[in-house]
Amino acid sequence: MRLDKFLCDSKNLSRKESKEIIKKGRVIVNDKKINDPSFSIDESKDAVLVDSVPVKYEKFVYFMLNKPKGVVSATKDNIDKTVIDLFKEEERNDLFPVGRLDKDTVGLLIVTNDGNLSHHLTSPKHHVEKTYLVRIEHPLSDSDINKLTLGIKIGDDECKPAIVKVLSNKEIELTIFEGMFHQVKRMLKAVNNEVVYLKRLSMGDLKLDESLEEGKYRKLSDTELKILTKEGGNV
Ligand code: URA
Repeated sequence: MRLDKFLCDSKNLSRKESKEIIKKGRVIVNDKKINDPSFSIDESKDAVLVDSVPVKYEKFVYFMLNKPKGVVSATKDNIDKTVIDLFKEEERNDLFPVGRLDKDTVGLLIVTNDGNLSHHLTSPKHHVEKTYLVRIEHPLSDSDINKLTLGIKIGDDECKPAIVKVLSNKEIELTIFEGMFHQVKRMLKAVNNEVVYLKRLSMGDLKLDESLEEGKYRKLSDTELKILTKEGGNV
């Protein structure tokens, strides 16, 4: 791989920025200063340093974020803080959230720069299930649970049968198989109830790491990445 391409991918630089850094003599490959952007490297073996700091080859990155309340699932917003603003220290500007959680919803959100993965996790064709912890205004009746588990109608949309696990009077775990706009809130509204707290616990087989505080994130582990590969990404 060309050295300038390596730096573009790893540090998310433009080709022009990458060439400039190399020409300024800021890049060392295997202890030798390299000034030629077309210099060929083996990204799995060669040691590359920029300003004496090692650079690892990473075209795609995958984070698990425990989304806090009050931030929107977008890359930019004129009014609200976004989930990407929580990632300031990362030296990349190509991250985006996979799908959306409402501003007041907390919990598992994947943040990546892998468009293929995002497509697979959010496309209606793939039906990746999502499980939420839902606190509700009133207890659910047996008839409410029946309606939700048979596939409830919300407006013009018909939901697939959901899985309801009653945890207590006013707390359930709800698993849904699509990702419609405000889906959980609308499902509960359709049985004359109200969501008072919503937290996403899992997407497919990927579970929120409960040791991550709200607002904190970490890279996915290799095992977690494998789970995502199953869902289809570039990993
Ligand atoms: N359903 C909702 O209503 N809101 C969310 O944020 C996610 C699912």
